[in-house]
Amino acid sequence: MIKWFVEKLLLLQLLIFPALGFCDPIFSTGNKHSVTVIGTGYVGLVLGACLADLGQVVTCCDVDKEKIQMLSKGMIPIYENGLLEIVQKNLANGRLHFSTNVDTSILNSNVIFITVGTPEGKNGEANLCFIGKVAETIGKNLNDKKTIFVKSTVPMGTIRWIKEVIDENNSKQTPYNLGYAPEFLREGSSVEDFMHPDRIVIGADNDETANIFANLMQPLIDAGAPLCTTSIASAEMIKYASNSFLSIKISFINEIADFCEQIGANVDEVAYAIGLDKRIGKAFLKPGPGYGGSCFPKDTNAFLKAAEKYGIDLKTVNAAVQTNSTRALKIVQNLENRFGSLKGLKIAIWGLSFKEETDDVRESAALKLIDLLQKRGAILHCYDPIANANALKVFPTLFTYNRPQDAVQYADALILATPWKEFLEVNFIDIYKRMNTKFIYDTRNFLDEKYLRRIGFEVESLGKK
Ligand code: UDX
Repeated sequence: MIKWFVEKLLLLQLLIFPALGFCDPIFSTGNKHSVTVIGTGYVGLVLGACLADLGQVVTCCDVDKEKIQMLSKGMIPIYENGLLEIVQKNLANGRLHFSTNVDTSILNSNVIFITVGTPEGKNGEANLCFIGKVAETIGKNLNDKKTIFVKSTVPMGTIRWIKEVIDENNSKQTPYNLGYAPEFLREGSSVEDFMHPDRIVIGADNDETANIFANLMQPLIDAGAPLCTTSIASAEMIKYASNSFLSIKISFINEIADFCEQIGANVDEVAYAIGLDKRIGKAFLKPGPGYGGSCFPKDTNAFLKAAEKYGIDLKTVNAAVQTNSTRALKIVQNLENRFGSLKGLKIAIWGLSFKEETDDVRESAALKLIDLLQKRGAILHCYDPIANANALKVFPTLFTYNRPQDAVQYADALILATPWKEFLEVNFIDIYKRMNTKFIYDTRNFLDEKYLRRIGFEVESLGKK
């Protein structure tokens, strides 16, 4: 009977609060915390939903009313594996709330996460405008001792600056804790990454801050996730150093791919064999059209800028950025070598998101290719399982299709730009019949090249000539 009553109450809450557009946080007791997450982008939404799933009571705040209304109704604005399910589950069990009322939410919480964006600003530096505003708001609403964790990616020294901003606005000089907890979530698998992290990092300057964070992450630590407790400066460095190292790995293998082409080696064989060396590792050795997304391009640039300020020349990171910037052009030049002028050539592009399993097109190599090809007069027909709409926001006149086979009709070339699994299931005999010139450029070394050649395709890939 009690169970029935609680379930009905939760259902009622799920129905009524979304209609109001926001929910006020519920206080919890014991070793549970009342958590506010400010910013409901990828990082904030995944963090909020996962913390709720781990048992915390969480309110995710955003200034975007439409987004909050949508989230309150159990719908999510992004495509992310497993996220919808845990958002709906925790809305229904009453542990997850959404609100536009940041002030109230801060007042009612003892833990606050800052997860607003730090987009690339002028000259490649991170734009700290949003995070500064949030710090002001937190400072103004410090009614009792709270613990604040920054999760947004920020350059070295930013946490010190955030402390200054909070202090300026904290007129009653209420004590508070401040820590930096960098995130390492990959889009497309962020829920999985959150729940099974390689490591958890907390930068803190006192034990209380570190302990509160460890307490929040306890179920993951109990399940074996290593916790790295560091200084704030080290945590700031760990985030940028991790992303930059992975970027270097990708650019390295892309350069090796170019070299392989010249000497008749096969980059896939090379990557596999070098990756078996545990000191090198298999991950992030896949050649491609260059890394994209909302993190690597922005973070490597911000890292370089930050280093410059301290008189440090990060030559390896710089080289990775330079190499990456030439990838799309190299692919287009190879097409020109094959076809001559690209003017009027009908080219199909499969995959528009910056990688598979996401609808995110930010800094997508596919869009860079589109830009270069359009400038050369090629006529593009594109397909992506879920990113068509986002690509159209960038290139409103692009021809997009709902099926891969429709994009290749009478095409002179097919470029595979993003390695969606469904491309492995396509009937290539049908594709062959539809295409004008039977030419496939696999920029991810993803398709079964031998099979494609066997059925008559001319195939270009990376690092294999
Ligand atoms: C990255 C980091 O992995 C994550 O830890 C951090 O928190 C945010 O940035 P994400 O941007 O989601 O995550 O994507 P990721 O899977 O790292 O891929 C980044 C880019 O590199 C993609 O464009 C991908 O296609 C490309 N890539 C990746 C390669 O070209 N080759 C590889 O071997 C791996």
